[in-house]
Amino acid sequence: MSGRLALLARPWRDRVDAAVAFLTARGFAGDVGVILGSGLGNFVDRIADARVAPYGEIPGYHATSVAAHQGRLVGGIAAGVRTVAMQGRLHPYEGLAPADLLLPTAVLACLGVRAVVVTNAAGGLNRFYAPGDLMVIRDQIDLHWDDPLRGLLADPLGAAGRVVGRVPPPAHLYDPALASALAAAAARAGVPVHQGVYASMWGPTYETKAEIGLLRRAGCDAVGMSTAAEVALLSALGVAVAGLSCITNPARETGQPELSHQDVVAVGARVRERVAAVLLAVLGDLA
Ligand code: HPA
Repeated sequence: MSGRLALLARPWRDRVDAAVAFLTARGFAGDVGVILGSGLGNFVDRIADARVAPYGEIPGYHATSVAAHQGRLVGGIAAGVRTVAMQGRLHPYEGLAPADLLLPTAVLACLGVRAVVVTNAAGGLNRFYAPGDLMVIRDQIDLHWDDPLRGLLADPLGAAGRVVGRVPPPAHLYDPALASALAAAAARAGVPVHQGVYASMWGPTYETKAEIGLLRRAGCDAVGMSTAAEVALLSALGVAVAGLSCITNPARETGQPELSHQDVVAVGARVRERVAAVLLAVLGDLA
């Protein structure tokens, strides 16, 4: 059994194990994982020697219900690196239990990847951000106000050996070295990036004007509805994490038009080639 599987609580561990066995038998293996957010799934076109598993065919997976999320796992070689990409993800607002929401992320970790790059579409809170900009995620605030890992870890205090006595050291959910590598890779690819803090909200409605004001004053640079729980799990399982947000809109304020999912997807479509270029540029640094 992989060391990471042993960190998971039963009976969840058995569900994850069954999906890992299914995928391993179909040749899925990777050194780097990638989670592709709204409108950003085109990266999988860059994966050579690809094998594909629709989520609906993988034991224990839920198909995603979000338009523009394809819901497939794609494994193969990208930029010379063995890569497994989640093309589409599940969201807390889809009403799933944590064990269902985070199963695909646990499977990615238990396939043995060393690092994962998480991507998402996000609203820009920082006034210097414009639609189409990219942001390397330096840190996150999970505003679901809940423990996304409750009941999922065999030994919550001792996960990944990070706990000394009963006092956890300060957490680096996003690996600082990988964040720097991502920014450097973006520069090599000719893509400017911001670096900032990502806030994760419940959704599925976009934020109220009052919430936007609160998040700005709290120092958040971008806001979305995903990612935080996945990153908490990956970090607890000892996977190094880098994060990239695609700013699809300014978080709307008084007097601005209402935001729609179609707007978010349209900007994602406009910048997704740049996102793919940054991912390809960083893969070699992560393997
Ligand atoms: N808020 C929350 N999630 C989002 C946004 C937003 O403005 N844009 C894209 N995803």
